[in-house]
Amino acid sequence: MTVSLSADARLSNAGARDFALPEDEAKAAWEADRQHLLHPWTNFASFKERGSFLVSGARGVHVYDTTGRQYLDGMAGLWCVNLGYGREDIVEAIADQARRMPYFTPFVDVGSLPAADLAKEIARIAPGDLNHVFFTCGGSTANDSAVRLIHFYHALRGKKDKRRLLVQMDSYHGSTYLTHSMSGRHTARSPLLNFETEMVQTLRSPNTYRRPEGMDEAGFLDLLISEMEERILSLGADTIAAFFAEPLMGAGGVIVPPRGYHARVQGLCRKYDILYVSDEVVTGFGRLGHFFASAEHFGLEPDIIISAKGITSGYQPLGAVIYSDRMQAVLNAAPEEAWFTNGFTYSGHPVVCAAALATIRAMEAEDICGHVRENGPKFETALKSLLDIDIVGDVRGSHFMMCVEAVADQKTKELFAPKADVGHRIADHAHELGLIARSIGNLIVLSPPLIFTEDHIAETAATLREAITRTRADLKADGFLA
Ligand SMILES: Cc1ncc(COP(=O)(O)O)c(C=O)c1O
Repeated sequence: MTVSLSADARLSNAGARDFALPEDEAKAAWEADRQHLLHPWTNFASFKERGSFLVSGARGVHVYDTTGRQYLDGMAGLWCVNLGYGREDIVEAIADQARRMPYFTPFVDVGSLPAADLAKEIARIAPGDLNHVFFTCGGSTANDSAVRLIHFYHALRGKKDKRRLLVQMDSYHGSTYLTHSMSGRHTARSPLLNFETEMVQTLRSPNTYRRPEGMDEAGFLDLLISEMEERILSLGADTIAAFFAEPLMGAGGVIVPPRGYHARVQGLCRKYDILYVSDEVVTGFGRLGHFFASAEHFGLEPDIIISAKGITSGYQPLGAVIYSDRMQAVLNAAPEEAWFTNGFTYSGHPVVCAAALATIRAMEAEDICGHVRENGPKFETALKSLLDIDIVGDVRGSHFMMCVEAVADQKTKELFAPKADVGHRIADHAHELGLIARSIGNLIVLSPPLIFTEDHIAETAATLREAITRTRADLKADGFLA
């Protein structure tokens, strides 16, 4: 089915005119941002020069800049505004709860109705026996809290030495001190910062496109599995607490592992008593056509699922550690003196939970997952048509989580020199043409709102084609392409 128009009907009529600012106000806002705000992931040299692109409003699948110019949002904000902008039902749920009771402590044995309701709803939609939830303020704090929970769990089982974490090169698990160390994108690591390298052990990236030359997919899978088992044996299984992975890597470049990868990794985890944590911060809440991709898309039975982003459609900040009955049985048997000393002032914030409850209601009422299952393959096909451009090496991903990899040579997969800045060039051209796409190195990532229609899909592919064609011409003019 296609997404019901009720989503649009609930949008107020605000648009370009309402979001445009007088020129002096726009300039003042831009200066305030540039002078006073430290953004996440700042490159100081380029920021000093370019400042920020300020977004002043958003409706449906579009965002507007301070001049009132409209852009198609190919990123759903940052992989999160899954239901699109201007949803009065979510806004109303937030306002209602803020009026009723904006906040009360969630600590120890005090709670609120929305947090209790949401925990029950998540247990209903989560796979298998994942019936328990710990709430945090986002994906990073959820992964961080999962590590604490896992250590606590193993210690209760008399296995306190089980503390190491296995992660994958290219993965992204967040930006707290620990979760940044758990993120395997070493190219994204500032040499000026410090990282945890003993507790966190990084395995080879399951990047099928960049597998060793001459190796087929099945051989690559065998290599990944044998390397993982060797690492477990050399470190000692009794020192390893958990394996963390995104079912389909997002920020690391929408990396699709070889077929059968997850099942075999899960087999190793079970063999060596290692918990399997599926980080579904991006893949969850409909992006691959299911509330959670682990079981329904990849046949996995994780011990823990991490959720954030789409769980509130980006309307409020929320993270969730969703864990199993099996783990809860161990926690329930904890001795009286054992406290799980982990938590945040805003764990289970009532207003935030109300936004998540409204998101789940809307997703089910409008069959958003069905819409993604129907239209996701059309998005894949539309983007794959770009492979006829000679600087497009790979188009990969699944449903509404896709990536285009630019290369200097399609056959050898050779990359452009970093100085060519190919990803930025493509994203900048797309921006000029009215499409927001995200560049990561030589990659262009697309994760649009899940309410994208066939028209939006066609517009995205056509705009990206033009952006890549213009980039190709620039690269030629600048001597990066023969
Ligand atoms: C897979 C994954 N895990 C964790 C995070 C961190 O989430 P947050 O930025 O909400 O802390 C992200 C953010 O992009 C992510 O993609």
